[in-house]
Amino acid sequence: MGLEAADDAGVYRLTPELALIQTVDFFTPIVNDPYQFGAIAAANALSDIYAMGGRPLMALNIACFPLKTGPDTMKAVLRGGLDKVHEAGALLVGGHSVEDPELKYGLAVTGVAHPDRIFTKAGARLGDLLILTKPLGTGIIATALKGRLASKEAEAAAIRVMSALNRAAAEALDGLEVHAVTDITGFGLLGHGLEMARASQAELTILASRVPVLSWAREYAGMGLVPAGSHANRRFCENHLTLAPGVDAVTADLLSDAQTSGGLFIAIAPQDGEVLMKRLQEAGVIEAAVIGEVTGAGARIKVLP
Ligand code: CO
Ligand code: CO
Repeated sequence: MGLEAADDAGVYRLTPELALIQTVDFFTPIVNDPYQFGAIAAANALSDIYAMGGRPLMALNIACFPLKTGPDTMKAVLRGGLDKVHEAGALLVGGHSVEDPELKYGLAVTGVAHPDRIFTKAGARLGDLLILTKPLGTGIIATALKGRLASKEAEAAAIRVMSALNRAAAEALDGLEVHAVTDITGFGLLGHGLEMARASQAELTILASRVPVLSWAREYAGMGLVPAGSHANRRFCENHLTLAPGVDAVTADLLSDAQTSGGLFIAIAPQDGEVLMKRLQEAGVIEAAVIGEVTGAGARIKVLP
């Protein structure tokens, strides 16, 4: 696809009918349970294939383990990843591990797509509806977890959201007039939204009240538990972002919250938006919501209350 615009994965056309998609992602634990960490890291790595419109075929483990890590912990991390790879309908074909002072895990994933059906961040058009398929707030909850301030319920909710594959959401796009797709990860909704706005030369208007958010995240953000990365995300967007009066500081923090394994962010022709929402509900992606629309040209984001 070229390196001019940041996209979610590399694409190589093998034949007029077949393109190869490659991506890699790994990171340090964000939850305490090693099995859930493995599952989240794998769901996050697989997500970039889905964001490009692809189907994952196979994956390789990338693992860094401290010497002090016991075999049970290592096995749990790898099993969490393996179960997600299988849930994605892909195969785990190998991997590589090294000794490292800090535990890290993730996957390199290979997928395929039809070359005419690759989704990028470019292509969002005036009038498109913007749909987000997972709630925001996992970065704030992970920060609260680190400070031992998160409730059990908040932890469980964040794990459920982060370990969910974007497979059903990606499959729901089949045959619809989809103009741009990305997944929401470290740059938050505003950062990844701005990448789409830039690549598409489009103005995205987001209605803050429509954006799905984990309720605990709103509570913790109100207590000031906002990860440093989220502030960096806000600064990154500042010159291309208008927050309407009435969008409070906590909401702004949630919109720029760095996500792990977040949802797909989709720009779709308005006549197909309703079909997509119906399909998402039927497929169990029940937190998906229409959160705004493309309102003009100009590589910017406008947030209304
Ligand atoms: Co991505
Ligand atoms: Co990535």
